[in-house]
Amino acid sequence: MLRIEKLTKRFGVNTAVDAATLDIDKPAMIGIIGRSGAGKSTLLRMINRLADASEGRILFEGRDVTALRGAARRAWQSDCAMIFQQFNLVPRMDVVSNVLHGTLNRRSTLATVFNLYPTADIHRAIEILDRLGIAEHAPKRAEALSGGQQQRVAIARALMQDPRIILADEPIASLDPMNAQTVMEALRRIHDEDGRTVICNLHTLDTARRYCDRVVGMRDGRIVFDGLPAQLTTGVAREIYGAGADFSEAATSTEIDTLDASIRAARKGAAPVY
Ligand SMILES: Nc1ncnc2c1ncn2[C@@H]1O[C@H](COP(=O)(O)OP(=O)(O)OP(=O)(O)O)[C@@H](O)[C@H]1O
Ligand SMILES: [Mg+2]
Repeated sequence: MLRIEKLTKRFGVNTAVDAATLDIDKPAMIGIIGRSGAGKSTLLRMINRLADASEGRILFEGRDVTALRGAARRAWQSDCAMIFQQFNLVPRMDVVSNVLHGTLNRRSTLATVFNLYPTADIHRAIEILDRLGIAEHAPKRAEALSGGQQQRVAIARALMQDPRIILADEPIASLDPMNAQTVMEALRRIHDEDGRTVICNLHTLDTARRYCDRVVGMRDGRIVFDGLPAQLTTGVAREIYGAGADFSEAATSTEIDTLDASIRAARKGAAPVY
């Protein structure tokens, strides 16, 4: 279905993603883990064509999407909707209009300028919001909602595109545990019920284990692990994160970085950095 072949992204001398190869042969829920700077976001951005690859190919059902331009590229971006840590909603706009923004790629500029949406689209937006348990918030401004609710609005906006793939870049990194759970459950349900592939950059190991069928570990731009959650032992996780023996399973990549920074600072005799 989706095949990523030796995908590479260089920024000057720095290689953010280094010959990443990934084969997804059927709809799946995949978690990508790795410490900060491992290349997780860059990989998703290349898949969505927000960033161009320096080398390598992305094939979707045999079609090379790396080479798409103009309208074909936009059509691909509709097929693989992206969700971000910061929701990227229009805060002062009402929830349902935010969701309708998901149809932007296939609407005329004129209709967009005048905020004209077909009734059928409005009904569908409400239906999707209902499915995500937030239909009652439809008329409210997006900024009036909690983080978890806002992220569900972003998921609804993505679903409005009827995408084959959902790419989520740390969708729960700014949420409290309760909201994080609701959002991950929503993504899981979208995979289970609709058969959409969800590829999710995740901050914590336990989230990846709990919600994903397959976990991909990245380190220094390379894919260093690709397997089942059960194969993700503490030893493997330590390899992926490049962490020491004090590595804790519950730690997030940020916590590991902070830990490393404080250890480095302590070694130098300086005050720890938090
Ligand atoms: N636009 C850019 N210009 C230059 N370097 C970049 C750019 N985007 C990313 N990088 C670099 O590429 C590497 C990978 O970054 P990326 O954001 O993909 O990592 P990440 O795994 O998503 O990290 P985080 O967990 O912090 O989100 C980093 O070294 C980063 O500094
Ligand atoms: Mg990132």
